[in-house]
Amino acid sequence: MTSISLASSDLASQAPNYTDIQSIVAHDFDIMDEQVFGSLNSKVQLVMSVSKHVIDAGGKRMRPLITLLCARMFNDAPSEQAMHLAAITEMLHTATLVHDDVIDESGQRRGKPTANATWDNATAVLVGDYLIARAFNLLVGFQSLELLKLFSDGTCDIAEGEVLQLQHQHNPAATETDYLNIIDGKTSRLFMMATQGAAILQGQEQHLQALADFGQHFGNAFQIIDDVLDYSGDSELMGKNLGDDLSEGKPTLPTIKALELLKNSDKQDYEQLRIAVQTGKTPNAEQLIELVRSSGALDYCKQRALEETRLAQQALGSLPDNRYRQGLYQLTELASARLV
Ligand code: IPE
Ligand code: IPE
Ligand code: MG
Ligand code: MG
Repeated sequence: MTSISLASSDLASQAPNYTDIQSIVAHDFDIMDEQVFGSLNSKVQLVMSVSKHVIDAGGKRMRPLITLLCARMFNDAPSEQAMHLAAITEMLHTATLVHDDVIDESGQRRGKPTANATWDNATAVLVGDYLIARAFNLLVGFQSLELLKLFSDGTCDIAEGEVLQLQHQHNPAATETDYLNIIDGKTSRLFMMATQGAAILQGQEQHLQALADFGQHFGNAFQIIDDVLDYSGDSELMGKNLGDDLSEGKPTLPTIKALELLKNSDKQDYEQLRIAVQTGKTPNAEQLIELVRSSGALDYCKQRALEETRLAQQALGSLPDNRYRQGLYQLTELASARLV
C-alpha cells in the first residue's frame, strides 16, 4: 500500500480545518446543502416542519462531503448526479439521527432540542421513516439498480446495527468484537455508501473495494472517537448531551475496555461499573465517568481510533492522486484530531 504524504498538498503547510476541506468542493457543497431540505416535497405540513427543524439545525454534512470529494476525485467536473446523491445520503443520515434520538431518549441534537423532545416519539419515528422513504423515492430517479442495491443493502445493515446495539444494551459482557459489529452497521456502512455511491455514478467500479475499506475504517474511527467524547467531550461544542451512553447501559468501547482493565486491577470498581451497565442505574454518574477516564480505557480507544484512521488512509493509496483525494485524507486527520 502506498502511504500518502500531506507534504504534497497545497494545504499541507498548515493543518486544514473543516471549512478548508469543504472549500475544495465549495460549489458542489452549496448546491448539495440546498438540496437536502429542498428535495422534500411532502404534502403533509408536519413532515416538512419536523424535517426542517432537524436539517436547518446544521450538522457537519460530512457524509455528503465525502461523496462530493470522491466524485471529483474520479472526474473533476461538476456532477448534478453526485450533488443529488450526496444530498440523499445526508437525508438518510438525518433519518438515522432522528430515530437514534428516540431510542437513546436524547434531548439535544445539533445544538437544538431533538425532534422527539420538540414533538414526541411517534412523530419523530414517523418523520424519520418518511425521510428514508423519500431518499429511496429519489434514488429510483437514477435508474441504476447497482446504486439502489448499494443503498438498500446498506440501509438494512444500518438498521441491523441499531438493533444489535439494542440487544447489547445492559450487557456488561459485550466484547470489542460485538462493538465493532454494531458500529460497522450503524455508522460505517453509511460512510461506505457515501464513497461507493460516487464510484458507481462515475463508472469507477474497479475502485469499489478500496472505497469500501476507506469508508469502513473511517467510519469506525469516527464512531470510536464519538464514543470517547461521550466520556470526555464538551456538550456545548458537540451540540448534544454527553454522558448518556453509560446511563443508558450502552456498552461502547470505552466501557468495554474499562471493564476489562478494572477486572484485573480493582474488583470493587469493576463491580460498580458492571452493575451500572447492567442496570442503567447511575446515581453516582460522575464518579463512574471518572472511573472510566482513569482506567486507561480512553487511551486505548484513542489508539484504536488512530489505527482505524491509518487503515482508512492506506486505503486511499490506490485511488487517483489529486487534491480531492488529499481532501479525503485531511478529513480523516481532522476527525482523529478531535481526540485532543
Ligand atoms: C453523529 O454524526 C452520529 C455518529 C455517527 C456519531 P455526526 O457527528 O456526523 O452528526 P452531524 O451530522 O454533524 O450532526
Ligand atoms: C450514532 O450513534 C447514531 C447512528 C449512527 C445512527 P450514537 O448514539 O453514538 O450517536 P450520537 O452520540 O447520539 O450522535
Ligand atoms: Mg445517540
Ligand atoms: Mg454517541
